[in-house]
Amino acid sequence: MSDPRAVAAAAEELRAALAPQRVSLDADQLEAFGTDESELGIFPPELVVWPLSAEEVRRVFEVARRHRLPVVPVGARSGKSGGSLAPAGGIALSLERMDRILEVNVEDSTARVQPGVILSRFQAEVERRGLFYPPDPNSLDLCTLGGNVAENAGGPRAVKYGVTREYVLGLEVVLPTGEILRTGKRTVKGVAGYDLTALLVGSEGTLGVVTEITVRLIPRPRHVSTALVTFRTVEDAARAVSRVLAAGVLPRCLELLDDVALAACARTAPYKFPPDAGAALLVETDGNDEEQVFGEIVRVAELVRGEAAGEVIVAQDESQRRAIWETRKYLSNNLKALHPHKLSEDIAVPRSRIPEMVRISREIGRRHGFLVSTYGHAGDGNLHNNVLYDRPDERPRVEAVVAEILRAAVDLGGTITGEHGVGLAKRDFLEYEQGPELVALQRRLKALFDPEGLLNPGKMFPAKGSPGLPRKGEGNGALP
Ligand code: LAC
Ligand code: ZN
Repeated sequence: MSDPRAVAAAAEELRAALAPQRVSLDADQLEAFGTDESELGIFPPELVVWPLSAEEVRRVFEVARRHRLPVVPVGARSGKSGGSLAPAGGIALSLERMDRILEVNVEDSTARVQPGVILSRFQAEVERRGLFYPPDPNSLDLCTLGGNVAENAGGPRAVKYGVTREYVLGLEVVLPTGEILRTGKRTVKGVAGYDLTALLVGSEGTLGVVTEITVRLIPRPRHVSTALVTFRTVEDAARAVSRVLAAGVLPRCLELLDDVALAACARTAPYKFPPDAGAALLVETDGNDEEQVFGEIVRVAELVRGEAAGEVIVAQDESQRRAIWETRKYLSNNLKALHPHKLSEDIAVPRSRIPEMVRISREIGRRHGFLVSTYGHAGDGNLHNNVLYDRPDERPRVEAVVAEILRAAVDLGGTITGEHGVGLAKRDFLEYEQGPELVALQRRLKALFDPEGLLNPGKMFPAKGSPGLPRKGEGNGALP
C-alpha cells in the first residue's frame, strides 16, 4: 500500500487538475472499486478518479508518477479475472463517465466510441441503423466497450463472428509516460507498421489507458433462428458439435450445457428441459434469407439425429427465443442454487478434445470432493468449468482443483483463458502455458510502455518472487 501522505497530496492535486467532485477518498467507494465478478476478494484502491478526456487521463498519470502511485483502469467492474482490482492500492481510474458514442458512420460501416459506453446500448444504436457489432459477452447489459477492448471479450457469437479484436480498427491510448497516441486506422484494410492496436486489445489495462475506440461494423443479419437439442451425454453433444461444423454449417452460436447445468436450470429457468436429458446444445443460425436461416437449423437437426436424445425444438417466436437465452444467461446464478459458491473458469481446448476436457475436469473435482459443472461456447472449444462448493473455507481446495483443470487444458493443447483474461486470477499459470521466454519478452514489452511499472501492477504476470509452476512437460510437480 502507498504512503498515506502521498495519497493525500495526490488527491489534492487531482482535485485541482480534474474537478473536486471527480476525485473520491470515500471508504464505501473505495470498497466498491475493490471488487468485480472474479470472486477473488476485496482489493480496494486508495483513491478513485473519474476523468472525462484523454488529456485528463494524462494529468492523472502525471500526478501518479510524481507520487509513485499505481494506476488501475476500471470499466464496469464486471470482469472475471480481477483485472480492475487494486492489489497494490493506488488510484482507480474509472472510465465510466467517458460514455459517449461519438460517431456511427453508416457509409463507412465504422463507429467511434468512448471507453465507458455500455455494450448493449452501443449494439442497440448500431442495429437501429441496420448495422451489427457481434461480440456479446454475457455481461453485455453491464460491461463497457473499454473493458471489452482490455479483455478482448468474446461471447456465444464468437464461433461465427470472432471476438473484439476482429472489430477494433484503431485506438486512442494514453501511456503512463503521458504520451497520447492514436494507433491503427479508420479503413477496414491497412497493414502499415506493427499492429499495435492488436497488441493493445487484450492487454488487460497493463500497457495504456484506452480513451477512444474505432470499430468496424457489419450488416445486421435480418433473420435469426434458435433451437435446442438434448442429448443423453456430454460426449454425444460434443460429437454433434464436431459433426455440424465438419458438414460446413456455421451457426452463430453453439452453446453446450452439461447435466449439472441442466439440473440447475430446472429450478427457476423459463425453459424446462426433459428430465432425462444429460446435455443440451443451444444452436442459433442467422442471415438475410429467412428460408436459408431456417434451412440451416433443419440441416443441423438432420446432422445431429444420430446423437440427439429427442426432437430438435425450434423457437417459434421472439418470446420463446428469449426464454431459451434467458435460461442460458442465468445459468451462472442458477448454479449457485445447487451450492452457494462457485469458481468459474474459461479454458479453451481444440474442439475435438471437448469430451475429454469435460470428463477430466469432473474427475479432478470428484477426486477433491467437488462437483464440477461445464457449460460454454462449445463451437470454439471455450468451456466454463464451474467448481461448486458450500463454504468459504473450502476455497484453497477449490483452487487446487482449478489449478489441475488449467493444466489439463494446456496439456490437451488448449489455453488457460479463452475470454476472461489472465488478470490476477491466472497470472501464476501463464508460464505453464507459454514458457518463461515468452513471459519474459512480454514483461519487456510492458516495461517499454510503462517504464516505471505504475500501470496496473501485479496483473497478467507472476508476482515477483512467486514460486511459479512447473513448465508443460516437466513432470507432475506439486502445485502450491
Ligand atoms: C458466460 C460468461 C461467464 O459465457 O463468460 O456465461
Ligand atoms: Zn463465456
